[in-house]
Amino acid sequence: MIQRGDVIHNRYRVIRELGEGGFAKTFEVKDTAENDYKVIKILKENKHSHQKVQELFRQEYEILKQFNHPGIPKVKTDGYVTITYNQHNQVLTIPGLVMEKIDGKDLKEWLKSNKKIINTQQAIQWLKELINILDYVHSHKYVHRDIKPSNIMLKPNGQLVLIDFGIVKELTQQYERQDIPNTEIGTPDYAAPEQRGATLEETLLMLDSGLDHRADFFSLGRTFVHLLTGISPNNLRDPENGNRLSWRYKAPGIDESFKDLIDWLMEYNPDSRPQNIQAIKDLLEPSPPPIRPFPMPIVFFSFALNIVLLILLAVGVTLNIGLKVLFVVILCVIFGFLVKAFMKDIW
Ligand SMILES: Nc1ncnc2c1ncn2[C@@H]1O[C@H](COP(=O)(O)OP(=O)(O)O)[C@@H](O)[C@H]1O
Ligand SMILES: [Mg+2]
Repeated sequence: MIQRGDVIHNRYRVIRELGEGGFAKTFEVKDTAENDYKVIKILKENKHSHQKVQELFRQEYEILKQFNHPGIPKVKTDGYVTITYNQHNQVLTIPGLVMEKIDGKDLKEWLKSNKKIINTQQAIQWLKELINILDYVHSHKYVHRDIKPSNIMLKPNGQLVLIDFGIVKELTQQYERQDIPNTEIGTPDYAAPEQRGATLEETLLMLDSGLDHRADFFSLGRTFVHLLTGISPNNLRDPENGNRLSWRYKAPGIDESFKDLIDWLMEYNPDSRPQNIQAIKDLLEPSPPPIRPFPMPIVFFSFALNIVLLILLAVGVTLNIGLKVLFVVILCVIFGFLVKAFMKDIW
């Protein structure tokens, strides 16, 4: 049992417990070697015995330590620790993961004091940030699996950080369900339907093959419903509509097109959701208006006139002021046309 004041791995003094999930406990610690604050996540005693769980915990560390993104807590190469202690005359060794401590509060806390996002601009800003983090995570062939307000932190500078990469979580929940039938899997308010009903074997298979990244889009959509309405998605279910969420009217200040995007993320069938991050980005950043190409007759006329004027100059004709101005205008038209042509707007 780890308590305030304990020193882990001869180095990390426990300051306070930050949270306790199904498979792990999270603590804020003081790193006496580097003289700063960190966060340690420790596998819970009753979960450590499953070899596969320990393996996945280690795998999670191996993946996290490769990540280098301002929206993800940093895990250093010495970030995997083991804690050994006696319990009921048995020596237990439990793995822990040390990571950067993010200043600020998670969005579950933020919702308590701020109630909800009230304008589309802020919603777009936050969605863009989270999409960029997910883009990075997915490009490393990793799926977060547990996006929800308590797993997103808001730094004092306004930047969002995604925490709690729960590769082990689903598996431990499956073991739990095996031991205690009917245990809920995932975080039902936010987890994608394809994540929820899986059996232990299916989950193991998913962990081996990698759960589809579109599951994260679903959870992101549900997270935004919570952020935009201030109401937990579970309390927005509409039993008359196949338990889909009836939420849009609870977010009156938000653009309908943004709500459409959130509904798209939450489609039950993964094939009906956005298929990749770019599809979401395209909606958030509308493409710039197309540059109108030069009308071709003007271009031909300008080239022709330019040649005539050059011939006149070549044979020694002195151009009057009007022709000189015309010459400059024509040169500008030709220059503009060539620049656009090289920008591939017309070719
Ligand atoms: N790197 C971190 N920096 C600061 N706070 C954190 C960090 N990781 C977790 N927390 C806080 O601890 C809480 C629980 O941690 P989390 O990793 O989400 O574990 P779990 O949800 O499995 O208990 C989070 O909701 C967050 O408030
Ligand atoms: Mg969490």
